[in-house]
Amino acid sequence: MRIRKTLALALLLMLFLAVAAFYNGLVLKRYEINTNKLKAGTSIRIVLISDLHNHIYGEKQEPLLSLIRRENPDLIALAGDIADDRVPIKGTELFLAGIQGIAPIYYVTGNHEFWSGDIKTIKASIEKYGVSILENHYEAVTIADSSIIIAGVDDPDVVLVDNTRDWEGELYTAFSPLENYPGFKVLLSHRPELIDLYLKTAFDLVLSGHAHGGQVRIPFLLNGLYAPNQGWFPQYAGGMYCYENLIHIVSRGVSFNPRLPRIFNPPEVVVIDIIGK
Ligand SMILES: [Fe+2]
Repeated sequence: MRIRKTLALALLLMLFLAVAAFYNGLVLKRYEINTNKLKAGTSIRIVLISDLHNHIYGEKQEPLLSLIRRENPDLIALAGDIADDRVPIKGTELFLAGIQGIAPIYYVTGNHEFWSGDIKTIKASIEKYGVSILENHYEAVTIADSSIIIAGVDDPDVVLVDNTRDWEGELYTAFSPLENYPGFKVLLSHRPELIDLYLKTAFDLVLSGHAHGGQVRIPFLLNGLYAPNQGWFPQYAGGMYCYENLIHIVSRGVSFNPRLPRIFNPPEVVVIDIIGK
C-alpha cells in the first residue's frame, strides 16, 4: 500500500514538473529600481518587450496586449528582434497597432531585423505606428513631474548594411553629452553580452533581450543553457544584474518557436518600476 502511495506521489510530482517545464503562457516579471535621480515619491513604469520575432499570441495578439494594458505603463520599450527575418511582419504590425496609444513607444533593432536584408522596410513599418526608433540618439521624456533620458542603439549587425559603422565607438560618442547629465538615463540595446561596453557609459539602466532566457532553465540551478553570442551556460541569459553604477535588465523575451521549446522559461513581459527615493 505504502509503495503504491509513493509511486502515485512520484507520478504526480513528475506530471506537475512536466507541466511546469513546458508551460508556455505569457508571464509577468517585475523589477523595482530605487534611485535618488527621480524626485522622491514619483515613479515611472516601463514595460519592456523583446524578441517577439513576429509571433502572434492568440487572436490578434490579444493575450499580450491585455497584459500590457493592465500594467498601465508610462513608457513601452522594445528591445529588438520584434520583427524577424523569416516570419511575416504581420505579428509585429498587430502588436504595434494594439499598443499604440497606451504610452510612448521606443524601439531599437535586433540582429534578426538586419538579417532580413530589408531593414528600411521594417523600420518604416514600425514607424507607421507612432513608434520612436532610437538609432544612436536619445530623448528626454517627461512623465508627470519626472523626467528621464531614453536612449537606444542599433544592433551591432548594422554592419551588415553599412560596414563603415564603428559600433563601439559610436556608443561612446553618441552619448558623451550625457556624461554630466544629472537625471536618470536608460539605454535600450538588444545585446546583453556587451555589458562590459555599457559599463563604460553614463547610463543608470540598460535594457536588453536577445538571449531568450538561455532557452532551457532549471529553477534554482541553471539560469539558461544556451544563448546566441554567449554560448553554453550564458552569464546574461535573463534577469537583473546589478553593478556599482548601473543596473542591467535582460528580458527573456516573448519568443515562441514550437521547434525550439522553452523549458522552465515561459515568455515574459517585463515591468520595471523606477522609484524616486
Ligand atoms: Fe537577437
